[in-house]
Amino acid sequence: MFKTISKLVNAFGPSGCEKQVAGVITNMIEDRVDEIRSDAMGNLIAVKRGSGKKIMLAAHMDEIGLIVTTIDEKGFLRFGTVGGVSPLISLGQRVVFENGLTGVVWYEESIENMKDAKPDKMYIDIGARSEEHAKELVGIGDMAVFAGQPVGQNGVVISKALDDRVGCAVLAELARRCPETDHEIYYVFTTQEEVGLRGARTAAYSIMPHLALAIDVTRTGDTPKSKHGAVALGKGPAIKVKDNSVIAHPKIREKLVNCARENSIPYQLEVLEKGGTDAGSIHITAGGIPSGGVSIPTRFIHSTAEMVDLKDVENAVKLLEAFIKR
Ligand code: CO
Ligand code: ZN
Repeated sequence: MFKTISKLVNAFGPSGCEKQVAGVITNMIEDRVDEIRSDAMGNLIAVKRGSGKKIMLAAHMDEIGLIVTTIDEKGFLRFGTVGGVSPLISLGQRVVFENGLTGVVWYEESIENMKDAKPDKMYIDIGARSEEHAKELVGIGDMAVFAGQPVGQNGVVISKALDDRVGCAVLAELARRCPETDHEIYYVFTTQEEVGLRGARTAAYSIMPHLALAIDVTRTGDTPKSKHGAVALGKGPAIKVKDNSVIAHPKIREKLVNCARENSIPYQLEVLEKGGTDAGSIHITAGGIPSGGVSIPTRFIHSTAEMVDLKDVENAVKLLEAFIKR
């Protein structure tokens, strides 16, 4: 599983540029599904045919990033954010562009209180010698993502972009195991979640599933003085009750809980007070689609070093397997 996750987090994929990620996933699962296609939004939709209900399982391929807005006369890049990027967390970090170019995120040193460090007082330094030189290397609108190799140790994974490549890994692994079921399963790898749950909306409309689950990360409240609720790392996948974008359909929530209990899979209940998932746009698509979620407990979400427990990842696969077999 660490290998699968590594391949996925290493792909470059800020919102709207998910092609590399889609390519990696296609290679992983194309021989295990009946059909695989992408749509105008860039969503990757893989189908395992069946005569029962249409079940949509969604995980987003995009990661947060930075976007070049202007290039100054000395060759420093000013940037905006793509999705929820914290200026404080980006400070001093390496970022990498699609062409491999690396930059350092720094700040105007007249800032005295770090709380005033906002993107408009920050810049990316790519080591360019002049404006012209910089412009040979990057252009306005180019996006960069946090850099860094994934680490596996003590049963946990530390990496950028676990939000939501770990969800993609769960779905890819599930597809590879080919669970026996009469239902028609749609493995949907969505785009542009981080900028407003956009890809999932069009995918849900084109599929019109009977029900849907979003597989994404959720915050944990188990670090020193964390205010993020009851979910803890390593205590099982979290069954979504509510986040800021959706209230899980009670029947779906119940079915997930029953599946976990019957198969002795550890689970937790998730009430996420800040943040949403693809289920937020799926459940209000068309005439309404009963939706819920299975979340991977994750520390330090939207940082350069997110952390998940591999047991939770494996148990999420098992829980979904039990769910689609029913
Ligand atoms: Co996110
Ligand atoms: Zn996410």
